[in-house]
Amino acid sequence: MAKIHTYESPSNIALIKYWGKHGTQLPNNPSVSFTLSNSKSITSVEYEKGTGKIEFYFNETRNEQFESRIKKFISQNKQTLPFINNYNFIIKSKNTFPHSAGIASSASAFSALSACLISIKQELNYNIDDVKQEISYLSRLGSGSACRSVYENVVLWGKTDLINNSSNEFAIPINDNIHEIFNNYHDDIIIVEDSEKSVSSSAGHSLMDTNPFKEEKYKQSNINLEQLLISLKTGDLDSFIKIVENEALSLHSMMMLSEPSYILMKPKTLEIIAAIRDFRKQTKIPVCFTLDAGPNVHILYPKKYYSETQDLINSFNKVSVITDFLGLGVNQITK
Ligand code: PMV
Repeated sequence: MAKIHTYESPSNIALIKYWGKHGTQLPNNPSVSFTLSNSKSITSVEYEKGTGKIEFYFNETRNEQFESRIKKFISQNKQTLPFINNYNFIIKSKNTFPHSAGIASSASAFSALSACLISIKQELNYNIDDVKQEISYLSRLGSGSACRSVYENVVLWGKTDLINNSSNEFAIPINDNIHEIFNNYHDDIIIVEDSEKSVSSSAGHSLMDTNPFKEEKYKQSNINLEQLLISLKTGDLDSFIKIVENEALSLHSMMMLSEPSYILMKPKTLEIIAAIRDFRKQTKIPVCFTLDAGPNVHILYPKKYYSETQDLINSFNKVSVITDFLGLGVNQITK
């Protein structure tokens, strides 16, 4: 009899960006993110005794492009998933947001799928020391940033002397000593464009290998990390804003300085960034922006400024918005 495991998992937005990797999806610098709530993937894996067949459905329709990526991911990770050849799997997934729109859909998708697969592993009586850590480890091998979506609120991925138990292989939550101003912190995502990106994240990571500015970029991100950890603790939003906007712009600078160079921001992206900075100057409300590897703008602000920030957002013409805020990470729906 077939059994089914269903998990939901959110996207996350990096404050300190992961950009460039080595080895088996190991990051060149540590990154920190906010886990989101509303932007999520809901994935179910149905399995029964078989010979390792995998079918993948996205929004109820068989999707061969995603299916081949998932087959590759699963077959490359037989050591973590030793049962894979003895069962057949029907995987169904959907998102609450458009995929490949610069809101890391691979993060929510791979973390939700990894949660289902590790949950099946557990049901098959394999010994797992730390279930969330194993989900994070497996998610990372699907898409680096996915390893951060597993945990709640503020999450770190990457080895750093600044945080005990940090690792390049999995993410860890860093929620002790986070100032209360960050409780339910908002990330309202302004969708400037919801079509697929012209240059994928994986192509972008590879271009860092030959980027002449990479060492400076990693040095800067490590300094930014140290300062961000202090501002998260003290609630110093001036410093938080400076670091977060610097990380976003230096991510996109790396794209513009790579060979070949490319630009993912659109005129509307720059218009919105200018409007946010103007609004902040005029009102003294601590609203800032960050960007993923795409044109959409993430507006970050404390929850108590919700209504003022809506006035700002409503002033942008013809854009759609996903209103989001900090959330809890992977969550089991059914077993
Ligand atoms: O996980 P990937 O390979 O999709 O890379 C994500 C890269 C950024 O979103 C630009 C930054 C990050 O840390 O999430």
